[in-house]
Amino acid sequence: MRPAIPTAGRPWTAIQGDLEASKRADYSWKQGRLAVYFYYLDDALHRVQQEAYKAFWTENNLGQRAFPSLKRLEEEVVGMGLSLMHAPDTAGGTFTSGGSESIFLSILAARERARAERGLAPGRGNIVIPDSAHLTFDRACWYLGLESRRIPVGEDLRADVAAMECAIDSETIALVGSAPCYPFGVFDPIAPLAALAERHGLWMHVDACVGGFLSPFVARLGHPVPGWDFRVPGVTAISADIHKHGMAPKGASLLLVRDEALRRFHRFESRAWQRGPYAAYTTQGTRPGGAVAAAWAVMQYLGEEGYLDCARRIMDAKRVMTEGIAGIQGLSVLEPSDLSLFVYRATDPALDIGKVAAALDARGWLPGRQQQPDGMHLHLNPVHAEVAEDYLRDLRAAVEEARGGATARVAAETRTY
Ligand SMILES: Cc1ncc(COP(=O)(O)O)c(C=O)c1O
Repeated sequence: MRPAIPTAGRPWTAIQGDLEASKRADYSWKQGRLAVYFYYLDDALHRVQQEAYKAFWTENNLGQRAFPSLKRLEEEVVGMGLSLMHAPDTAGGTFTSGGSESIFLSILAARERARAERGLAPGRGNIVIPDSAHLTFDRACWYLGLESRRIPVGEDLRADVAAMECAIDSETIALVGSAPCYPFGVFDPIAPLAALAERHGLWMHVDACVGGFLSPFVARLGHPVPGWDFRVPGVTAISADIHKHGMAPKGASLLLVRDEALRRFHRFESRAWQRGPYAAYTTQGTRPGGAVAAAWAVMQYLGEEGYLDCARRIMDAKRVMTEGIAGIQGLSVLEPSDLSLFVYRATDPALDIGKVAAALDARGWLPGRQQQPDGMHLHLNPVHAEVAEDYLRDLRAAVEEARGGATARVAAETRTY
């Protein structure tokens, strides 16, 4: 039966009980039972996120006239992102609701710049991207009437710069590289891609939604991280999610541009309305003040040392897990993988990775099935350092079960959303 709003309101205690009960079938993120969708360090950071969000629970970040506090907090969050990504003094940025919005705005800006400066006709235009780039680029193209040209990555799983160059034509408006990409966790060769973009006068977007707030700290720990930020000449724009490895609650990302003046290309403005002029740099109207306040508070609370600690835990978890998986007969870890993401698969034809996934699922681990290559995908966050050995224990048991004639399997096409 279709639900309806109850006639009379119910007491909060009953509602709270219902909400708690509704979570019963959810996977336990606090115990790291999934490696997708969430980021968790500990209860102390969780409290900071909640308290800061609550402090600006009601304030609307659309109304910065009314809430100069939010204007200042937003400017500081953008400023901290620009500093971390070594942006020049000319740079600017926008606080958005997530990676998809940051990417959408960047591609919109690329299109508008091409229309303004190159006379790109409505309904025309394409972007050239490695086929490992997030599908949200295709979604942006769909919204914006652009063509997404997905070019297969090379043997090393990284963008094939020469092949991408061949796909550029007179209607190409932007190139994209990931730092790192979501399917494999590898960095594309950003420097050659940005040089290529510069040669052709193109917008170069670096998608650091995953890596923006992690790779600077992973690099400081001594791991090799290829150049990807504004120190690389030719990089026009960077998307970096604060609600991923920036450890803020959801609804927080940055779109940073090398030159503040470029922001005008994703700014809507109209005076043709009875109520008065309206302008916005984002796709949102009403914007939650809590998202900005919490992002600011998390950055202040963690500091560089806190982010380094997160990076250390993630890379430790990755080492323990990848070494452990490599030691299980019939499994191998896909190489390379540069950061917090990796994929493993079955190398033994008698071992069905879909059955391993089902056996893990039965033990409470949400399987992240990778479609190409047929395998398992994990995106680690700090909490996984505490459960890496548990995962390996259950994985060994799952492999045994899969070999023992289990019938349940999780298909490779299992949805990622
Ligand atoms: C590399 C990359 N880019 C963009 C996105 C989209 O970000 P969001 O889900 O915050 O919209 C993701 C999400 O996982 C991602 O991994």
